[in-house]
Amino acid sequence: MTKIAPSILSADFSELNDQIKKIEEGGADLVHLDIMDGHFVPNITFGPPVIKQLRKVTDIPFDVHLMIDKPERYIKDFAQAGADIITVHQESTIHLHRVIQQIKNEGIKAAVALNPSTPLNEIEYVIDDLDMVLIMTVNPGFGGQSFIPQMKDKIKKLKEMINSKGLDIDIQVDGGIKLNNIEEIRDCGANVFVAGSAIFKSDNIVETTKKFKEI
Ligand code: DX5
Ligand code: ZN
Repeated sequence: MTKIAPSILSADFSELNDQIKKIEEGGADLVHLDIMDGHFVPNITFGPPVIKQLRKVTDIPFDVHLMIDKPERYIKDFAQAGADIITVHQESTIHLHRVIQQIKNEGIKAAVALNPSTPLNEIEYVIDDLDMVLIMTVNPGFGGQSFIPQMKDKIKKLKEMINSKGLDIDIQVDGGIKLNNIEEIRDCGANVFVAGSAIFKSDNIVETTKKFKEI
């Protein structure tokens, strides 16, 4: 199933409540929450207390993308704050298998993200345990960057890997996803689309979310 996950990184934080209501009205399937620590990526965003407050605003599942070093330290905090899916970066932890088990032990969905330069074989021995794989289509840290074209081949290869193992796992893409490239990326095998600037910097958040849903 195709899902749209607007990333609030590009939202107007002074009216976050209202902006989330708009993506809800537009039919968003997930709210994508980008957590950055100033170490794993150069940028800093927000943490569990903000997610806990936002949980009161909407019932849309929370897709929490952790761009933090040693995410094992914070899995419980994010799960208790209201995360429905937690994504950790392969590059952010030495003990990836253990972190995935930690997430699953919280009773929520587990996903692993790969930076553009990280090969797919890094997840070969954990993929059976995952609900979703996130192919970063930009280098993580900032909204508004351009889609890296080489990632189309990576998405196709991931799809083949998933099919060859007979698994049923979502393929998420994050970074530079726009209305004018989403179809070709979907055709490569992706089915969960994060869009930050394309939705929140558009003239009409509700209508743009709807357009993404229609594709
Ligand atoms: C980047 C974040 C993205 C970001 C995408 O590190 O993980 O979720 O919000 O922004 P756009 O859609 O503007 O590329
Ligand atoms: Zn993200």
